[in-house]
Amino acid sequence: MSRHIRIPLLVDITLVDDHRTIAEDDGDPRLDRNYERRGPLLNRVLAGRLMHVFAIKGIHFPTMRARDDAERRANQAALSERLRHAATPTPELIEAIEPLAAYVKGSAPETVVGPALQSLIGRLFNPDFTSSPRLWQAATRFDGAARSQNPLRWVWSTLTGTLNADRHLLAESVGNDPVAVHGIGIAIHNIVKSLARMRESYADPVRRSTLDDTAAAMACLVAPDSVLRQAKSVGEIPGASLKPGSLVVYQLGVAAERAFDPKVAFQERSWSFCPASGFVFQLLSLIWVQASDRPHVPPEDIRPEPDNAAEQPVPEGGP
Ligand code: HEM
Repeated sequence: MSRHIRIPLLVDITLVDDHRTIAEDDGDPRLDRNYERRGPLLNRVLAGRLMHVFAIKGIHFPTMRARDDAERRANQAALSERLRHAATPTPELIEAIEPLAAYVKGSAPETVVGPALQSLIGRLFNPDFTSSPRLWQAATRFDGAARSQNPLRWVWSTLTGTLNADRHLLAESVGNDPVAVHGIGIAIHNIVKSLARMRESYADPVRRSTLDDTAAAMACLVAPDSVLRQAKSVGEIPGASLKPGSLVVYQLGVAAERAFDPKVAFQERSWSFCPASGFVFQLLSLIWVQASDRPHVPPEDIRPEPDNAAEQPVPEGGP
């Protein structure tokens, strides 16, 4: 379903919460990222803020970049390939997920989750990466301030300099790589929420005994609440007429919940597919296995293949 909110000169936003409509809209090349200050006032403010916040030394996070951005696509393909076997249950990985499995079992507090997960994700990008309470706090504050829709909080975090300081700290820990900062500072929070759900499932004796690793990962996976697109020219999508600068919010959290399909949660059929999908899914499966003392499944690639893989020619030259 789509809801269109338009107040002339002030705002023009369409909300879409159905995965089929999201897929249909997303096939329309007039909807893209690389947000420009266009359209009514609030659209311009939001677009400008996102591009300002989600950039490191002038280089934007992958989630800000356009569908045809060759470097983004090369980075996406390279990370996807690099993470293909990153969740193979080696002794190091089993040790790294121990605190996470303990949390799922209810024998470790919530405070262990962020730092343990941040270390695990950070090491995918920098082998010497170690989380710390300060770095985890930076990730939590940065995510909160960046996502906030409260203009007072925007002003506050700018005036106090916390947003800049947190982003700087995160960036420094991974060699100023915006893809890595997205991982340890933003995307990580979806895994934290997924583990909170997994803990609930574990606490329920019926779910604990009936869910196998794949079913547990599917049941617990939490999608990003929403992802944003901007209209680059005049057009029609189901439920709305677009003008340049119109914003379209895919309410992925709701859509994925209804579809009960990891491909929706990871935008797997889209040009913007998450390159960490297989890794995250296998990681969640592995944590469930470890928490419930089940035998380890052989490491196989259970990542859903992107349906549009053939349409994703990767330009020469990786990151
Ligand atoms: C539960 C965990 C996660 C979920 C549900 C998830 C989901 C998503 C979704 C829906 C997108 C598409 C955004 C859009 O359409 O604009 C995306 C993009 C992306 N994700 Fe994830 N993600 C997760 C974890 C991660 C992690 C841990 C990393 C890094 C290690 C990561 C790296 C990326 C990157 C780099 C992109 C941008 C792809 C591009 O457009 O080039 N994600 N993710």
